[in-house]
Formats: sequence, structure tokens, C-alpha cells
Amino acid sequence: MVVASPKPLSSEKLRDVELPIIDFSAERSEVSKLIVKACEDYGFFQVINHGVPEDIIANLEHEGLSFFALPDSEKQRAGPANPLGYGCKNIGLHGDKGEVEYLTLHTNPLSLAETSRTISNNPSKFSSAASGYIEAVRGLACELLNLMAEGLLVPDTSVFSRLIRDVDSDSILRLNHYPPLQLDWDTSPSSYDRIKVGFGEHSDPQILTLLRSNDVSGLQISIEDGVWIPVPPDPTAFCANVGDMLQALTNGRFVSVRHRALTNSCKSRISMAYFGGPPLQAWITAPPELLASNTNRLSLYRPFTWAEYKKAVYSLRLGDRRLDLFRTCSDAAAPGLAS
Ligand code: OGA
Ligand code: NI
Repeated sequence: MVVASPKPLSSEKLRDVELPIIDFSAERSEVSKLIVKACEDYGFFQVINHGVPEDIIANLEHEGLSFFALPDSEKQRAGPANPLGYGCKNIGLHGDKGEVEYLTLHTNPLSLAETSRTISNNPSKFSSAASGYIEAVRGLACELLNLMAEGLLVPDTSVFSRLIRDVDSDSILRLNHYPPLQLDWDTSPSSYDRIKVGFGEHSDPQILTLLRSNDVSGLQISIEDGVWIPVPPDPTAFCANVGDMLQALTNGRFVSVRHRALTNSCKSRISMAYFGGPPLQAWITAPPELLASNTNRLSLYRPFTWAEYKKAVYSLRLGDRRLDLFRTCSDAAAPGLAS
């Protein structure tokens, strides 16, 4: 397979677009309409007044920063990421690289307790910070998914949230740590030259991602090839990404957002991402009400399980458009979505 090398950063366009910010404390039907619009237009929004307690966020951030501050040899005890555990600069198994170190954990309590033993000298402190965070953020993700179903006029409003509430849900928590820009004024005059890709362009494979970062910029979303919108950092907000599974579950009404993270600040950046995923054996099919929205009530995707999709994800590069492999031949019914 020939893989196109990424365009140089300098040839890309940055666009200053005001991305949707959803105030979770506003009136419910209004919130659900705004969320649907954001997911249709961008596959992305930021949510404020979300109700996840500050101390729960601060606890996990503290644990994450303590881990990343450890000497390399100690961090390696939690690696290599296959795919769970500690990884540094290598992302996935197909040569993707970036200026990032990360810790990937399964949200299943047994797996979390097990991995925590390699992460911290006080594993129960680490796993209780992580499980407190997971529980709170999963609750928010479920609420957002219910609001989406309501806004899409799907009568079974828990049709999406059930998948991530399931005890067998295959959900992930990842802490990412991006180094600061190297300020070496003598050798390189422009700070732009020192900007590097931390986490390269991709879409998240799961249903919904909720990501919180410290007060440092870096996250960008793409609306078309090579055009990037910087997401203003807000440590009091969560960024919500529509994942590939939600695109399939909404029969293409919502788009999974292409995004990346750059290292473009003099401060180091830490982000904590909860990826809400379905159980491995769950079938990914859109509710019938959402099939009516395209001509002939056709499904854009053939039925598949999350396990099958995950296998495709692991066999491809980070930036590959994996969901295209699962389309039916009904492209003629939806020319706008053909790739
Ligand atoms: C990810 C991701 C972006 C960020 O972990 O999937 O897109 O801002 N991270 O850390
Ligand atoms: Ni991502």
C-alpha cells in the first residue's frame, strides 16, 4: 500500500471559525437541537456547565502529570502500548509517529485495576482517580447521546447511550502528554518551524469521545482536506467528537470529525480522552427512523460488529478513512457522502 506523506504544515490553511459551544445548563429541547446541528455541521462541539465536578478532573490530571513526570525507565513498565498501556512517539502498529506520550486504559474495572499496578506505586489511588473520572464522564456522554437521539426524533432515546452503558462496553480512557515547543532561538528564527504534529490527523473509531485538556492550545479539527480550525483551549469544557460508530449509527447524518493535535505552545499540554465504545459483539446498525432520511430508506453501511470494525482499525494507518470500507453499494442514493 502506498501511503501519501502528510502535507508540510506550512502548506495548510488555518481558518478562524467559531466552533459550537453548548451550554449544558440551558433548556433541554434547545440543547438537543443545538447538539444535532453541531454534529451534522462539524461532528464536534464543546460543552460547558457540564456538571462533571472539578475535583474529579483535577484528581486524574494530577495522577497523569505525576506519571508522565517519572523517569522513562519507570514509565516503560506500563508499556509498550499494545494497544493498552504506555506509548511514546509511536502510535499504532503501522509506523505512525508523533510528539506525544500517552497512557491508554480500558475502562473495565478489572482491567483498570490490573494496569494501575504497572503505572503507580499507589495503584489504588491511581485507579480510584481514573474510575471516578470514567464514571462521571460516562454519565455526561450518555446524557449527550440521549439528547442526540431526542433531537433526531428517534423514539428509543437510549438507543445510543445503552451501548456505552453496557457492562461489556469496550470504552477507553487515554491520557496524552505533549511536550512544549523547544525554544532554541539561535538555530531557528521562526517558532512556526518548531511546531510539530503530536497526534496526526484521524477520526476516533468509537461512538463519542469526550476530551478535556489543560489551558494549552493544540487541538485542531478539519472541515475539508488541508483546512484546519484551531479549538480554543478551555479547561472547564469538554470537547465532544462524533466517532465513526456514531456516524454509522446515524446512517451518515452525523459526521465523525477529523482532528489532530499539534505541539504549538511553550507549555506542555495534557489531555484526557474518554472514548465511549460499544460491546465487542454489538451490531452497528442505524435505528429505522434514521433510514428514512435518505432516498429509498437504505442503509449507507452494511451491518457489522464493533469487533469487526476494530480489527479493520488495527490493520490500517491512523489517518485512513476506515468507515468507507463498510459502505453498501447505495452510494448513488447519497452522492454528497460518496468519497
Ligand atoms: C486522541 C486525540 C487529541 C488531543 O487521543 O484520539 O485526538 O487533543 N487527542 O490530545
Ligand atoms: Ni482523537
